[in-house]
Amino acid sequence: MKCLAMAHPNIAVVKYWGKRDLPLNLPSTCSVSVTLSGFRTITSVHWGTSRDRVLMGGRPASRSVAHRVLGFLDLLDPHRPPCHVESENNFPTSAGLASSSSAFAALALAASRASGRNLSVRELSVLARRGSGSACRSIPGGFVYWRKGSLPDGSDSHAVQIAPEDHWDLRVVVAVVDPGPKSIASTAGMLHSAATSPCFPVFLEKSGQLATMAREAIATRNHVQLFHAMEESTLLMQATMTTALPPIFYSKPASLAIIRQVYEMRRDGIPCGWTMDAGPNVKIFCLPRVLEGVVARIRPHAVDVHALSPGGAARLLECSP
Ligand code: PMV
Repeated sequence: MKCLAMAHPNIAVVKYWGKRDLPLNLPSTCSVSVTLSGFRTITSVHWGTSRDRVLMGGRPASRSVAHRVLGFLDLLDPHRPPCHVESENNFPTSAGLASSSSAFAALALAASRASGRNLSVRELSVLARRGSGSACRSIPGGFVYWRKGSLPDGSDSHAVQIAPEDHWDLRVVVAVVDPGPKSIASTAGMLHSAATSPCFPVFLEKSGQLATMAREAIATRNHVQLFHAMEESTLLMQATMTTALPPIFYSKPASLAIIRQVYEMRRDGIPCGWTMDAGPNVKIFCLPRVLEGVVARIRPHAVDVHALSPGGAARLLECSP
C-alpha cells in the first residue's frame, strides 16, 4: 500500500527543552504550540517494495537521515517489508523552523496508514513523538498542548488541541536570518543544557506556570499575556543554552536586531511578541491589523520573511494499493 500525508510545522510558545527519557522522547515539561499553515511537509510511504529507499526533496537522504526515518518505520513493525519514503518541504529544513515537527507528523500518518493501521489522533501523536518530540504537536491542528505525561511507556505523553485554528486570527512572521542547517541539533542542545546549565532547574520550575498562562491567554485571546508567556519561556530556554558549559549560541547579530525591533515596535504601540528555537531565525507573533507594519520593520534585518497563520491538523491526502 502507498499513502501520502501532509503536516504543518508548529512553533512552541512554551518550550519543550529537556527529556526525561531519551529513546522515548519523553519531555521534562509540558509545552504549548501553534500549528502553522503556509509551511508544510508532504510525505509518501510505499509499504512493501523491493528495497528501502529514502528521498528528501527528490534526492537520496543522507545516511543519518535515512537511518532515522527507517528506524521510525521499524517502530510500527520490526519485521516490516522494504519501504520507499519520499518527503518534500516547502520551507528550509533543520534551520530552527520546526521542520522535524511536520516531517515526523506526516511520516507517522503516511506510514501507519500504508502499513494498514488506522490510529487515533492520540496514538498518532504518541507515534510521531518517537520520531521527534515536537512532531507530536503537529498531529492536531490549531492551538495545541503537549501533556508531558507520567507513565514510563510514554502512552500518556501526547498532544491535544486547546482550540481550532480559526479560534484566533493571529499572524506569525518568520524572519529567516540564515536558512542553513543549525549548528547543534535540538536533542544535543537540550541534553547538553540540561546536563551543564545551572539555569536548567529554573526553566523546569517556571514551565508549568508559563504553560498555564499561555493556555489561559489562548482561551481568552489575550495577546499581551500570550506574548509575555512566550518571551519568558524563550528567554529561560536561551538562559539554559548560554549558561551551558561550553555555551550554545544559536543567535546571530541579525536575530538580536530583530528582537530589539520587536521591543521598539511594542513601545510604538504595535502589538507583537517574539520567539526563537534551536536556530538563528526569529518568529514574531502579531495581530493581523499590524502585519504589514511588522513585516516592513523586520525585512531590513532578514534574508527572507514569511507571514503565516494558524494551520490545521495533519491530513491523509491519498492511499492506493
Ligand atoms: O522536536 P525537537 O527534538 O526538534 O525539539 C524541538 C525543540 C524546540 O524547537 C527548541 C522547542 C519546541 O518546543 O519546539
